Amino acid sequence: MSAPTIRAGVIGATGYTGYELLQLLHRHPQVELAWATSESSAGKRICDLYPSPDETPLIPQQDAKLEGVDVVFLCLPHAASMEAVARVRAAGVRAIDLSADYRLPDAVVYQRWYGHPHTQPECLKEAVYGLCEINRQRIRGAQLVANPGCYPTTINLGLWPLARAGVLEPRIIADSKSGVSGAGRKLRLSSHFVEANENISPYSIGYTHRHIAEMELVLGSYVPDLEITFSPHLLPVNRGILSTIYIDVDPSLDEEDVRRIYAEAYADEPFIHLLPAGQLATLRHTVGSNRCAIALTPLPRPGQWIVTVSEDNLLKGASGQAVQNMNLMFGIPETTGLI
Ligand SMILES: NC(=O)c1ccc[n+]([C@@H]2O[C@H](COP(=O)([O-])OP(=O)(O)OC[C@H]3O[C@@H](n4cnc5c(N)ncnc54)[C@H](OP(=O)(O)O)[C@@H]3O)[C@@H](O)[C@H]2O)c1
Repeated sequence: MSAPTIRAGVIGATGYTGYELLQLLHRHPQVELAWATSESSAGKRICDLYPSPDETPLIPQQDAKLEGVDVVFLCLPHAASMEAVARVRAAGVRAIDLSADYRLPDAVVYQRWYGHPHTQPECLKEAVYGLCEINRQRIRGAQLVANPGCYPTTINLGLWPLARAGVLEPRIIADSKSGVSGAGRKLRLSSHFVEANENISPYSIGYTHRHIAEMELVLGSYVPDLEITFSPHLLPVNRGILSTIYIDVDPSLDEEDVRRIYAEAYADEPFIHLLPAGQLATLRHTVGSNRCAIALTPLPRPGQWIVTVSEDNLLKGASGQAVQNMNLMFGIPETTGLI
């Protein structure tokens, strides 16, 4: 029996996540690309916009037919994605949204962090948070998957084993650094070469970064009264996120206990790379792959640990995880088309 072909559409294909996703879908043995959209570059091809042989034509959203399409990936900015997802779902087509619009199940919480109301509460109800390692069963039956944010993927995967085991103390300090592609391809002053190069800049510190909501959603469901201090930084590299997380765990656990909790939680996870004692996660462990690397370092004080976590923000932090979600939704091996 031949493998089923999944017909996929990509909305917002000209951005960094859209381009990365197209490259993954072209190589995926069970996907046929139905179309890719752009508003500002409709009529052009991907190779007109990127130094690439990819000749995928770009059409406007209004010409993208949903009949005969099995899944649509949306790679739009938040707010712009909300109604586009609803149109896809109204046609009965499965959707994987890379924006933040469907990640927070509570519309009030969404408005508090994003500053505008959620206009699609019906769709919001059916959205499943697409952090594959912790939500696999629900993703398998989902019609709408909200692909997680890049920073929260590192922090949630980095701490989930301890949170689930009930041994993580509520005070968490996460210092994260992201490559410049994390800000998207649109022009902005902070992404200019002269501003970003040879510099490291903190931004949105002091309980203001919107991704905190996703950390509270995931870790807060296990740890009451969670207190997250999250400090992101812009790092002058193209891609990659490194999070250094300072935590306290139940001081009665020794080093072996803590390492066993992680080893058991991630025993069968193809994309989690648990580093051996003594090693630290770096960008090179993950850039170019869909992996998340996690390393545990005990402090010489009982219960105190530093967790270092890395991922490629455009792969496990965005388009790679989106493909992993698609594989789960369509019941094919989770690693198909990914490294
Ligand atoms: N970059 C990352 O590392 C990363 C990681 C995780 C999640 N995300 C999320 O993924 C989404 C896409 O991110 P990105 O980095 O790919 O962004 P990007 O490079 O800025 O691309 C955004 C895309 O959306 C289209 N677009 C922009 N404004 C629009 C509007 N008002 N209405 C309709 N289309 C619009 C643009 O296409 P045209 O102008 O060609 O139509 C472009 O293709 C965002 O929600 C982002 O937060 C990004």
